[in-house]
Amino acid sequence: MRIAMIGTGYVGLVSGACFSDFGHHVVCVDKDPSKIEGLNAGRMPIYEPGLETLVATNVRAGRLFFTLDVTEAVRDADAVFIAVGTPSRRGDGHADLSFVYAAVEEVARATTNDITLVTKSTVPVGTGDEVERIVRSVAPDRAIRVASNPEFLREGAAIEDFKRPDRVVCGTNDPEAATCLRAIYRPLSLNKSAPVLFTDRRTAELTKYAANAFLATKITFINEIADLCEAVGADVQEVSYGIGLDNRIGRKFLHAGPGYGGSCFPKDTLALLQTAERHETPLRIVETVVSVNAIRKRAMGRKVIRFMGGEVRGKTVAILGLTFKPNTDDMRDSPAIDIIQALQDAGAHVRACDPEGVEQARRMFSDVEFVSGPMAAVKDADAAVIVTEWDEYRGLDLREIGAVMRSPVLVDFRNIYAADQARVAGLRYLGVGKPH
Ligand code: UGA
Repeated sequence: MRIAMIGTGYVGLVSGACFSDFGHHVVCVDKDPSKIEGLNAGRMPIYEPGLETLVATNVRAGRLFFTLDVTEAVRDADAVFIAVGTPSRRGDGHADLSFVYAAVEEVARATTNDITLVTKSTVPVGTGDEVERIVRSVAPDRAIRVASNPEFLREGAAIEDFKRPDRVVCGTNDPEAATCLRAIYRPLSLNKSAPVLFTDRRTAELTKYAANAFLATKITFINEIADLCEAVGADVQEVSYGIGLDNRIGRKFLHAGPGYGGSCFPKDTLALLQTAERHETPLRIVETVVSVNAIRKRAMGRKVIRFMGGEVRGKTVAILGLTFKPNTDDMRDSPAIDIIQALQDAGAHVRACDPEGVEQARRMFSDVEFVSGPMAAVKDADAAVIVTEWDEYRGLDLREIGAVMRSPVLVDFRNIYAADQARVAGLRYLGVGKPH
């Protein structure tokens, strides 16, 4: 199949590279000349494990191309995927669809084929209808079939998620669009590695939001249980394991922590609430999840301060990990932002490290001291706080850490160390949802 991918952000680039790895001919388009120039020179605009090699292999094989020119990209395409950003509109949480609609219009003007036009960006229920309206008015003589195909990739595991997904959801009532999508995803259904579901378009659009809202709920649920564990002297990791072994609950997404962040859960839960409000069908659980998570992220900084004795003015706090999760350079809505702000507001000096996130963090904080790694961060510090569970923070020599700190205090918001292990190494330790 010949595919055009509009947008080489996270979703577009990973999906485009993976489609080409399936053997399809893929042209990825972006408006940003520096991005396209970089990609053509083999430089990735984002950090994602395995992406650089995947792109290089498929470029070399003559299946993957990058261009600034939409017309060139869609010229011979069978399917055009829209994978541009849908940021939260400032103030009201609505998904900003202006990039999607502009891309749709441009594609409709450029195409000379009867294509399947697929929305991969996360878009509110009913967006497909508006896309269809634009297409009909811009290109009335073309048979452009509009479908929805939401993505379920996780940053840091995106290639694996794309190639071995739990499912693929395709939303369309048009038989030709369904045939086109079936052909595109054939490599997945060939070895029955993933069910490819076909639904109507609105159902597909809503499935994406419902999935993210449910996952955000699961995390928030275990985070509140973690607070209760601390109050009653129980251990949330064991509670989580104990409930997760029940297949109806499942073990995944039950890791208590400092609250969820990233480019998806915060934005998508807000957008889902807007849809619900518009349809006068309140989603009380999701509303609560959103506010509990926001409050939690702000509370984490105060928790550190309390554990340090309530006064941090003039003290140095080492932050280990800045990104919202490991294996990404993404700082969007990361709990580290709230934690650093709370510490700075209370007068602490913040020193921080992260294997990939420093560049983005520098743009947010001019008054944080960024250092190369954990040992440099903890030297003469009054507390060390693990915010992101990067693999390289899992095997630190705690004795060595304690020895170079001014006061040996470790706050572990990801529970990657055992309390006993830290105590034996001479550290005062605070985990999440652990008995004190
Ligand atoms: C999420 C979904 O997991 C993907 O399926 C979806 O495709 C994507 O959003 C999207 O809509 O594009 P992502 O935001 O990359 O993916 O990251 P997750 O691995 O889901 O983590 C999100 C946040 O939840 C992180 O801050 C992470 O630390 C937190 N989390 C996750 C927990 O605190 N506990 C857990 O058990 C799991």
